[in-house]
Amino acid sequence: MKVRKAVIPAAGFGTRFLPATKSQPKEMLPIVDTPTIQYVVKECVDSGITDILMVIGKSKRAIEEHFYRNFELEDELREKGKTDLLAEIESISNLANIHFVWQKELNGLGDAVMYGRSFVGNEPFALLLGDTLLGTNDELGRPVTKQMIEICSEHGESVVALEEVDWDKVERYGIGGGEEVGDGIFKLDQLVEKPSRDDAPSNLAIAGRYVFIPEIFDYLESQTPGKNGEIQLTDAMARMMSDRSIYGLRFDGKRYDIGNKLDFLKTNIEFGLKRPDTGPALAEFINEIANDL
Ligand code: UTP
Repeated sequence: MKVRKAVIPAAGFGTRFLPATKSQPKEMLPIVDTPTIQYVVKECVDSGITDILMVIGKSKRAIEEHFYRNFELEDELREKGKTDLLAEIESISNLANIHFVWQKELNGLGDAVMYGRSFVGNEPFALLLGDTLLGTNDELGRPVTKQMIEICSEHGESVVALEEVDWDKVERYGIGGGEEVGDGIFKLDQLVEKPSRDDAPSNLAIAGRYVFIPEIFDYLESQTPGKNGEIQLTDAMARMMSDRSIYGLRFDGKRYDIGNKLDFLKTNIEFGLKRPDTGPALAEFINEIANDL
């Protein structure tokens, strides 16, 4: 089963990051010098995806501009002989075929996903949150989405990425529970959105990556509003689970939630330390300020 298409919802208000997100998308906040959503698109491309639909809305125009060509800027870089930068800028608009749709009202993640129905058609597809990066320690260097596509191809069923979180944080996430049927692969029998610690079936949190069979749209279409009066994707998945299997991949790696201020700062420090152009000076600076604390 080949997965060629991805949907990236990026319409949310980003209230956890106000005032920065009043007029600019959180998905464009940079990790060092690259917008978060560009990493997400790269993950798609490295997973074999060729066509992407981004679900956007008010104050999200900068995302569209970022993935279109900017001829004036290209001319300027060419004239100044900045060929490396020129190649990098040109490559952004060639990453994949990227399409955009506006979510009319912010009725939740499940509602946003429904805007992908005609784009996706009758094929399996990947769903990646535009404000979340997943780092992986995979020996083969496969992005998490690629690992999930392989599981989907093997079983012909949907797959969700799972991250082990502290038990006192389960109430912040969608949580999955089920039996481990392979190394880090679970056949899920429970999915609960933001459960209390006592009600949580496990501490495995849904981590912003999904690969769905197209049948998910039937369940979304008939889904009634849940928590916060929104159409919750997790609720539709829980209903689909009574007819179809859903697998979970507890990936070996780390989730970076850019919509959360502290995670955003930590991610910039971690990525900045790993880069040869910023790492040494940043490490020196951190040691310097740590000594003053
Ligand atoms: P979040 O709840 O994490 O994002 O939604 P948010 O609503 O933007 O952030 P806060 O909580 O107000 O700070 C998860 C994902 O679903 C998308 C968001 O853009 C994010 O990628 N989403 C959410 C939509 O596209 N539409 C919606 O109606 C809701």
